[in-house]
Amino acid sequence: MSAPAPALAKPLLHLQDLTKTYHTGEVEVKAVRGVTLEIQRGEFVAIMGASGSGKSTLMNMLGCLDQATGGAYLLDGDDVATLDRRQLAMLRNRKLGFVFQSFNLLARTTAIENVELPLLYTMPLTSAKERRRRAVEALERVGLANRLDYHPSRLSGGQQQRIAIARALVSQPELVLADEPTGNLDTRTSIDIMGLFQELNDSGITIVMVTHELDIATYCKRVIVMRDGKVISDNANAERRRATEALAALDDAEKEANVA
Ligand SMILES: Nc1ncnc2c1ncn2[C@@H]1O[C@H](COP(=O)(O)OP(=O)(O)OP(=O)(O)O)[C@@H](O)[C@H]1O
Ligand SMILES: [Mg+2]
Repeated sequence: MSAPAPALAKPLLHLQDLTKTYHTGEVEVKAVRGVTLEIQRGEFVAIMGASGSGKSTLMNMLGCLDQATGGAYLLDGDDVATLDRRQLAMLRNRKLGFVFQSFNLLARTTAIENVELPLLYTMPLTSAKERRRRAVEALERVGLANRLDYHPSRLSGGQQQRIAIARALVSQPELVLADEPTGNLDTRTSIDIMGLFQELNDSGITIVMVTHELDIATYCKRVIVMRDGKVISDNANAERRRATEALAALDDAEKEANVA
């Protein structure tokens, strides 16, 4: 007798013919024109494509920051179109973490206070002591436990992005959405941040990341390319690079250059 077929795992994200049309005055912009795809738990996906191809629009819908104008989006089986504002806010807080190109940290607020911020909006409420404990834990995870009381202006770009990643992690999300997280960083710092994302992905967090740099996409497990609001290719990345190896190679190259 043959073994029973394994039950198909429910995808974390399921998009069915998703569209987004903006109406500004007389003008209609079809930013996303029918995207159908599934993303399973544990994936690390890069979304690429030319400027204006609809990447951020798609990400905003994935993050429940913006509603689709057509099609369906199921997040962990829930059709987000059926949820009200309060339910959406809860879903975002419970399941999603966000990382942006420009870090979006509060300038007059210390690293740890920035990281604690999402925990001010949890239901049930999180006590001040627990908020601090979890923020410290998240900052340890990104390697910045020694910068708790620094303001963003005293931190490098890479450190600021690590704080932003800690803020995304503090609510223990299943899915991290990142729009050009390395867009403002130099090459080494970018690889470093990709290393952190690979670590998080290895620990089970699903990551969807927009990047326009091919080099950065090589650290992801799957690469989706958009053009004019549509997916034009979607492939597993068979030659995925490990950031730790790339950083070691960079170190060696620099040492050699100094010796020469
Ligand atoms: N709020 C908005 N109102 C009207 N049109 C918009 C809005 N946001 C985006 N668009 C339009 O939708 C299209 C897709 O924009 P989107 O920001 O998703 O592109 P992108 O792929 O993220 O580009 P980039 O690489 O430059 O960030 C563009 O034509 C843009 O002008
Ligand atoms: Mg964009």
